Amino acid sequence: MSDLFLRACRREPVERPPLWIMRQAGRYLPEYRAIRERVDFMTLCRTPELAAEVTLQPIARFGFDAAILFSDILVLAEPLGLEVDFRPGPVVATPLRSVEAIDRLEIKPPEASIPWVYEAARLVRHELDPRVPLIGFAAAPFTLAAYLIEGGGSRLFESAKRLLWAEPQAAHRLLQRLADLTVQHLTAQVRAGAQAVQLFDTWAGLLDRQLYTEFALRWTQYVVAGLAHLAVPRIYFALDAAHLLPDVRRCGAEVIGVDWRTALDVAAHELGANVALQGNLDPCALLAGPEATVRAAQSVLDRGRALPGHVFNLGHGILPTTPLSSVEALVELVHAERRPLAATLPA
Ligand code: CP3
Repeated sequence: MSDLFLRACRREPVERPPLWIMRQAGRYLPEYRAIRERVDFMTLCRTPELAAEVTLQPIARFGFDAAILFSDILVLAEPLGLEVDFRPGPVVATPLRSVEAIDRLEIKPPEASIPWVYEAARLVRHELDPRVPLIGFAAAPFTLAAYLIEGGGSRLFESAKRLLWAEPQAAHRLLQRLADLTVQHLTAQVRAGAQAVQLFDTWAGLLDRQLYTEFALRWTQYVVAGLAHLAVPRIYFALDAAHLLPDVRRCGAEVIGVDWRTALDVAAHELGANVALQGNLDPCALLAGPEATVRAAQSVLDRGRALPGHVFNLGHGILPTTPLSSVEALVELVHAERRPLAATLPA
């Protein structure tokens, strides 16, 4: 354990790749479902003691090498004065469908409007094994804007993309304000004890390279730069972004999350030697049981071996129907991996 995760993020020598799993606190865990029988999802997010407890559950069960704060990318609806409901996907009561709606937004400081997020982070940092780093997170500005404009999940996010084409200036005004809010939100998480941050750009893959560069990458770079003074590793994960990797390379983060569609060595070729990679086991492999999980994970380990830094993860969030035995087999495999420290030193 120790600071394996932080060392791999910084591309320092490690004896094995660290392992954590996106959405590691969630419905595949019986102890999570037990809490969710008593409280709804938003209450869980808003109650620091419960959010902290749920954050720690996967660490206690599996000994992952990093914890991720239990929260959601849509908690920022509150400082934006918007109402969001989870059924279980997010539904925004009054989506930002017009320039007027965008320009009417009044943004409150997150420390005052969602103090429970940072209180949960403080509690986790206090209760967590000091050798296990805590990751804070937020959506990248484009992905947050996509939900706020669309009003919820969508296959194509056509209202959001329409706004980029129809009202580019208003879209940039919205994105700038979301980017400023995101910098404040992540800064507050780090001040409360987070030792790394991850930006989730779940819907980046819906954009072509031109739209991505103009509306997504630009504001991701702004957030990444706004966090530089905190001196914590910054992880950027764009889903379904194989066609965007030459642009993703310019985001400024220390670590790039790679989804399950692109082999790690192929991604490394496009991303260069100045970043560590995080990923990228197909979450569906775990559905096939421990043996299939080990086979698929071995191939990820093999492809990760030559990288300047590798943080083992899935290539997207773990699915609620995942058998615990698959996760156990994955942990056993990755924790048994040994790498000669000298061989990973830069030449
Ligand atoms: O990784 C972790 O363990 C930390 C917790 C976490 C949650 N959401 C808890 C959650 C994280 C990192 C997120 C990020 C998030 N939220 C993303 C980006 C990651 C990704 O999956 O691409 C997105 C797009 C959201 C928005 C969101 N929140 C959706 C689409 C959903 C419904 C999907 C689902 O799993 O049902 C949520 C709700 C949500 N957020 C749940 C959890 C555990 C399920 C709520 C429940 O318990 O019923």
